[in-house]
Amino acid sequence: MLFDPRPKDNLKDLFDRESEISLLKNSLDSPLIIIIGLRRTGKTSLIKSVLNYTKSTYIFLDMRRFENKEYIVYKDFIKSLEREINEITRKNKDLLSYLRHIQGVQVMGFSVSFSWGEEKVEISDVFSELNDWASEKGKTMHIVIDEAQELIKLRGYNILPSIAYAYDNLKNLSFIVTGSEVRVRDKFLKLEDENSPLFGRAHVEINLLPFSKETSVRFLEEGFKEQGISFPDSEKIFDILGGNPGWLTYFGYIYIKHGRDEEKAILETKRYAKRLLSREFCNFTKEGGRDKRRYLKVIETCRKGCSWKDIKNSLEALEGREINDGTVSDIINNLLEYSFLVKEDRKYMITDKLLGEIINVRC
Ligand SMILES: Nc1ncnc2c1ncn2[C@@H]1O[C@H](COP(=O)(O)OP(=O)(O)O)[C@@H](O)[C@H]1O
Ligand SMILES: [Mg+2]
Repeated sequence: MLFDPRPKDNLKDLFDRESEISLLKNSLDSPLIIIIGLRRTGKTSLIKSVLNYTKSTYIFLDMRRFENKEYIVYKDFIKSLEREINEITRKNKDLLSYLRHIQGVQVMGFSVSFSWGEEKVEISDVFSELNDWASEKGKTMHIVIDEAQELIKLRGYNILPSIAYAYDNLKNLSFIVTGSEVRVRDKFLKLEDENSPLFGRAHVEINLLPFSKETSVRFLEEGFKEQGISFPDSEKIFDILGGNPGWLTYFGYIYIKHGRDEEKAILETKRYAKRLLSREFCNFTKEGGRDKRRYLKVIETCRKGCSWKDIKNSLEALEGREINDGTVSDIINNLLEYSFLVKEDRKYMITDKLLGEIINVRC
């Protein structure tokens, strides 16, 4: 069902995205695939649908679980790896005999436990055994790190060397890394930083954009048609909510569930979207000890597009004093890195129409 609000995990429920689907399918043996797209544009849906369709073996590390944390430690990461590996060993008991050799791994019955204190398990050892197991089976094991920008908060441990080691040596492993924020590329993977373990590694990149107006309208019509409903206002809904697949899906879901009351469904969807966007915005300001009022001012100013000068002027009006150019640029760069803002031609735009409606948020 197109309006199912959960991530899709079956290709037949995935609307549009033909070129992204074929790019991903054709790249599945690449060592590193990066999928970048705003939250709720369908990254998780794309990956799960394609990996299930191709009957691939994969580990899915959902880093979103850390989004409210100020920082993460080794234990947090290793425990999520442990949980996912146990999902696989349940169906593939022979994997246990590979894992039991590793320092810091305990096998109890049919599950493994990874230690994180002294004698901690090394991630590269785990990757190495997963690779041997996959190689023995003649398959590729995909390691999905979903919403990987959260790992920028990992303290006291760097997982990049393990990924680089796997990239160079473990031919039966393939990494799929997603990010909702462009900083996943330069602040987490650091592919263009000469001092980074992953420097210069070739990779496939897939960018997932929100739906265009035309696609959004088709999506809504198709979703309603599936339910035997003819819905005449798809264009209006796009004009109000924008083309984020997550918001459109939620709208369709609520509309059908709550007695086909359009106004109510719009309100509900806005409330839902604003709650999520506010939470992300508040995490962003908290994480960097950033001044909320300044950032909200910029979002407000750029609702319909703005120039650098517009931003400077609005910040100066807010504070009633001059603000130096460096500070203005820092604020803009932070918003760009966290994908609240994009630069198109010489203008800045908010990336989600409904972000423009959170300007009264309390964090
Ligand atoms: N191409 C698509 N077709 C159908 N539904 C989609 C599509 N893309 C996203 N969705 C829906 O939008 C919501 C967000 O998708 P999700 O895959 O969780 O996005 P992300 O991982 O980018 O945050 C889910 O309800 C999902 O079902
Ligand atoms: Mg996701």
